[in-house]
Amino acid sequence: MGNAVRFDYQHQQPVTIISGADAFANLRGYCEQHQGAKLNILVLTSKGHHQRGSLQPLLDQLHPHPFTVIDSIQPNPDIDALDALIAELSPQSFNVVIGFGGGSVIDAAKVVACSLAGANSRPLHQRFRANEATAVTRTCSLISVPTTAGTGAEVTPFATVWDDAEKRKYSLSGAAVAPDAALLDARLTLSLPAFETLYSGLDALSHSMESLWNTNRTPISEAYSRQAFRLIVQALPEVLANPADTHSRAMMQQASLLAGLAIATTRTAVAHSMSYPLTSHYQVPHGIACSYTLPGVLQVLKQDPDGTFAELLHDLYEPAMQLLAQLPIMAELENYVQWSQIEALLPEMDVKQRSGNFILPVNNTVIYKILEYSAVFYRNTEGASLR
Ligand SMILES: [Fe+2]
Repeated sequence: MGNAVRFDYQHQQPVTIISGADAFANLRGYCEQHQGAKLNILVLTSKGHHQRGSLQPLLDQLHPHPFTVIDSIQPNPDIDALDALIAELSPQSFNVVIGFGGGSVIDAAKVVACSLAGANSRPLHQRFRANEATAVTRTCSLISVPTTAGTGAEVTPFATVWDDAEKRKYSLSGAAVAPDAALLDARLTLSLPAFETLYSGLDALSHSMESLWNTNRTPISEAYSRQAFRLIVQALPEVLANPADTHSRAMMQQASLLAGLAIATTRTAVAHSMSYPLTSHYQVPHGIACSYTLPGVLQVLKQDPDGTFAELLHDLYEPAMQLLAQLPIMAELENYVQWSQIEALLPEMDVKQRSGNFILPVNNTVIYKILEYSAVFYRNTEGASLR
């Protein structure tokens, strides 16, 4: 079982990352270079971005190519809604898809780009609900523009699809799912409300730690994880205290990117495994659901009788516990679900595709311990409030 870092690995990072105030400057040239002079561009976003006009600087760069803006993407995109959207868009021959938004929008853009005509024409519900493994291909260019700092979706080769009807989640994954380019401008995150700043920041924090206590970690993913973690410990409290601070926003955006690059290699682990039933059953925002267990996971590793994880926890345990103690995680969680309801979800928390990546074998006893340690931790912390 692997506490040791793997030295036998292949590292692929196919996403071109363009970061800074000029991130959009060569967007049209980039698209023309990859798809020729005749572009037909699809932009997926949320209503808020469209109405607030934050999309306009990007649209200005696309001129004079035709583009279509779809702003109906909802949080945690549902499989049937995505199938309906893909069916509506399929007759048009888009050769560039841009996801402008948070993780849900970027994941939707990934799924749409990999499902448009010429790629996978079978509806998602047929493929996923039948557990059908199909090769994922893509013929159009895919560009991600994150407006939150947390999911890492801008660089990961997977997308989450939710099944509201069957209370399940699916993951579309493969090299084609990774965007071709990620454009990062921290100013896009300045208007994020406090709760979204917290939720997305916690998701990045969880990614930085989940990729460390992970059997798939490599020297490269560990370097990404540790740097992401250091940035978050400093910048997340700063950005919550001073949301207009562009420098802290940029640090969080870089941390999200780095943590995303780490999980692109390792995938997530037990904290994400334990999060999914909370989101399926109680709509707990992902960042809260995947981080409320972090104190318990740290504690389980620290309690290992042989001290096996001392090196892993070095520079991680104390700063993580201090950060988690000052964030309003429990107050936010209790807006959605009570602890007794969480414990009742225990049988659904061991999702082997994720928990199997954890550096300790996971079973119901380990999951119960993580819940118990987390409960004790939050009982003993002051629990700041966001609202
Ligand atoms: Fe996550």
